[in-house]
Amino acid sequence: MDDGVAALADRLREVGYLADDDLATVVFLALRMERPLLLEGEPGTGKTALAEALAATLGRPLIRVQCYEGIDSTQALYDWDFPRQILHLRALEALGRDGGDGEVAELEKSLYDERFLLARPVLTALQQSPSVLLVDEVDRADDEFEAFLLEVLSTYRVTIPELGTVAAAQPPTVVLTSNRTRELHDALKRRCLYHWIDHPGLEREVAILRERAPEVSAELARQVVGVVQQLRAGGDLLKPPGVAETLDWARALHHLGTAELDAETAARTLGALVKYRDDAERVRAALDRMLTP
Ligand SMILES: Nc1ncnc2c1ncn2[C@@H]1O[C@H](COP(=O)(O)OP(=O)(O)OP(=O)(O)O)[C@@H](O)[C@H]1O
Ligand SMILES: [Mg+2]
Repeated sequence: MDDGVAALADRLREVGYLADDDLATVVFLALRMERPLLLEGEPGTGKTALAEALAATLGRPLIRVQCYEGIDSTQALYDWDFPRQILHLRALEALGRDGGDGEVAELEKSLYDERFLLARPVLTALQQSPSVLLVDEVDRADDEFEAFLLEVLSTYRVTIPELGTVAAAQPPTVVLTSNRTRELHDALKRRCLYHWIDHPGLEREVAILRERAPEVSAELARQVVGVVQQLRAGGDLLKPPGVAETLDWARALHHLGTAELDAETAARTLGALVKYRDDAERVRAALDRMLTP
């Protein structure tokens, strides 16, 4: 394996993120080739955490756009601070400016001064270069927003009509995540390097647990991951637990002073592991089979 890839994986590990070889490689390439990285995968598999770890590793600020239905460019790019603009106008009025012809133009211009600009995350990421820009859960945004993103990611510059163009001195490192509630457009995908993050295998999930929740004993960690992996493999849950739920469950058991997992304690702490009533029923039945000697 390329030395650079291994070195990057080590640095990610230092900030608590365990990347497998495939993921480390695609992250390495995204950095080298200055391309956005699109991460898809099941919920709770470390997509958001990767962007956080990358920012920590690179020592760059993490700037996050949380996407949602109806998000538009004013929420992601910039807006004008309307109340402060009004205050500014009032202040000028109080000073007794009468607004002669030349002054009106001057006054309007003063309203669109940089100090009345509210920079939203995408603009901030271009201004604070170099930065890591996380566009989280991009599948929740609509087509229009995707088109806007595509433009920003193609040029790393935006034009504010009243002020001019803002360009990043160095393009931000961009991580997009998607839970694939809908398919993204090809044009956006083409800009990006792509990686699907799977649920980790047993050994890696134990390692993640040991890394993120060192207070949980090695013994309990192994048992918890063993059960979670079997539940996922069963394939009959509405929402199979992600790594986030494994961590929550292990911590919950630790708080109750559990040294060894038994069916009863497992059943009582299910609220940390599954979040649907039907799933809880299924898991309870499965746990009985798995944990009753
Ligand atoms: N490879 C990993 N190394 C270290 N921690 C991990 C890893 N994968 C997952 N985690 C931990 O699991 C938890 C969930 O990860 P994260 O929130 O990044 O998932 P996600 O893929 O963004 O999920 P969602 O799709 O629900 O937003 C975090 O606390 C994170 O620290
Ligand atoms: Mg996430």
